[in-house]
Amino acid sequence: MGKIHLEKIPRHVAIIMDGNGRWADTHGVTRRAGHTEGARSVQRCVDLCLEYGIPWMTLYAFSTENWKRPLSEVSALMVLLNRFLKQRLSEMMAKNVRLLPIGEIHRLPQRCRKTLLSAVERTSGNAGLNLVLALSYGSRQEITDAVRGIAERVAAGELRPEAITEKTVGEALYTGGMPDPDLMIRTSGERRLSNFLLWQLSYAEIHVTECLWPDFGREQFEAALRDYASRKRRFGKR
Ligand code: IPE
Ligand code: IPE
Ligand code: MG
Repeated sequence: MGKIHLEKIPRHVAIIMDGNGRWADTHGVTRRAGHTEGARSVQRCVDLCLEYGIPWMTLYAFSTENWKRPLSEVSALMVLLNRFLKQRLSEMMAKNVRLLPIGEIHRLPQRCRKTLLSAVERTSGNAGLNLVLALSYGSRQEITDAVRGIAERVAAGELRPEAITEKTVGEALYTGGMPDPDLMIRTSGERRLSNFLLWQLSYAEIHVTECLWPDFGREQFEAALRDYASRKRRFGKR
């Protein structure tokens, strides 16, 4: 199947990859198997971004709140992450994908963190697609960290309070230097942000699909792009 023609393409797509557990339930398999299947959707979306020339994609893979799930599920997700990063590194190199993490990386198990940081390092020169993985990510924690960092600079006399602008705050977030998402997709039908990119999504177009994440592929991705292309973005102007 070929690429569809679209009037405008988002520069940055952010996805809340939700519904792995429900997918597992409907297929009578373990939640772990649902997450494994979800990893295949990640690969499909990477390929679709490359095909459509979308330079940024952020994926919500694990939230700060997800630590409260049963240890068995958290462990399974960490094992899966580690395996995904190891198995996909050569492909990311071949496809010119640069990996960037956001979140409390220090909270990840040591093995995962090592694999992640080495993949980040190895792919740092790639420029085909910037793949941002939100891991142990929570927007409130991110904003709290940013506020603390700014307060420390003020206390140290490096920054005057009057000099703090939106740019100062934006740059102090984990996403400092990255463009804001233009399109945010949430799978599995939930209509909430679940602590994802609260600052950065201020003017993003939101597309919610009933499709469960492991079933998400070309058809659903293109439907989201078509929806985005049909939107009139006004940014408060007339
Ligand atoms: C999304 O699927 C993956 C993560 C949050 C890690 P869920 O595990 O939340 O699946 P549902 O929402 O229970 O179906
Ligand atoms: C959001 O999904 C987090 C990720 C997709 C990683 P959740 O399933 O954790 O969110 P809630 O519980 O439905 O809000
Ligand atoms: Mg969920």
